[in-house]
Amino acid sequence: MQYPERHLLAIEGLHPPAIAQLLDLAESYVLLNRSGKTQRDLLRGKTLINLFFEDSTRTRTSFELAGKRLGADVINMSVSTSSVNKGETLLDTAATLNAMQCDLLVVRHDQSGAPNLLAQKVDAAVINAGDGTHEHPTQALLDALTIRRRKGRLEGLTVAICGDIGHSRVARSNIHLLTTMGSRVRVIGPPTLIPAEADRLGVDIFHDMRAGLAGADIVMMLRLQRERMTRSLVPSAREFFRFWGLDAEKLAFAKPDALVMHPGPMNRGVEIDSAVADDPARSVIKEQVEMGVAVRMAVLDVLSRTPSRGRNER
Ligand code: ASP
Ligand code: CP
Repeated sequence: MQYPERHLLAIEGLHPPAIAQLLDLAESYVLLNRSGKTQRDLLRGKTLINLFFEDSTRTRTSFELAGKRLGADVINMSVSTSSVNKGETLLDTAATLNAMQCDLLVVRHDQSGAPNLLAQKVDAAVINAGDGTHEHPTQALLDALTIRRRKGRLEGLTVAICGDIGHSRVARSNIHLLTTMGSRVRVIGPPTLIPAEADRLGVDIFHDMRAGLAGADIVMMLRLQRERMTRSLVPSAREFFRFWGLDAEKLAFAKPDALVMHPGPMNRGVEIDSAVADDPARSVIKEQVEMGVAVRMAVLDVLSRTPSRGRNER
């Protein structure tokens, strides 16, 4: 089975074999990375451009590392010092980069759907590195890889995703991936942070943290995405932590071997207590970051095998 798409824009719509193919390939890149070797001939002569209109530490760096480990020429375009500040539009910016014959365009944008729009306009393979509240597909893949390596499967697991579900593209991509792969997903948070559409996503909704965590295999915490809130949706940070923050007392309701995850960046003391986040027996947060590089190598690998639209015609 070959990954069927020219781009990676979303998890929604991907079938289990395509997801499994990406995870299996990423697994082999975990081993390669741990061995200290690289595979620089794979993307030799290809150009990858990181185009980030929103802040990032993990995603941008790991796409850069992934591209370099596979031999691509990697350009990090600094949007804050680019001609975007002189009024150039997203589409004109992309068309400009496209004219430089870029092969892989990694895009993060605050508008949901921006990568989809670009994918219709450029020859390069477009990878969504997070668009508004829509999706963050490589995050869900790296989360799934982390879970699968630790638990040996995705099927039949109970995964609790907690906190600001409404503004989280991480939650949305994870819900699509995990339900597609046979996990049971619960979302936990105050009603103001659970989107109305949650009902239709095949998840169970909890407003009580202890009830929602009961018997969970995986506890995934999310940051309050204040940059996307147009009004106050939560009480003070202290109160939020009291009701929705993960500490040892609340974690005790999950299974004794439940894993604690967080996509990062964390706001310690708001959605997660440091003692839990840093507990090596429970937290796999650093492992998620390691898996991020392997997953992005797998995605670049697979997409570079699919011919780009214009490349054949040029
Ligand atoms: N880094 C993730 C994202 O960009 C989660 C977050 O920022 O809270 O969606
Ligand atoms: N998890 C994640 O996307 O992190 P960054 O925002 O730092 O890239």
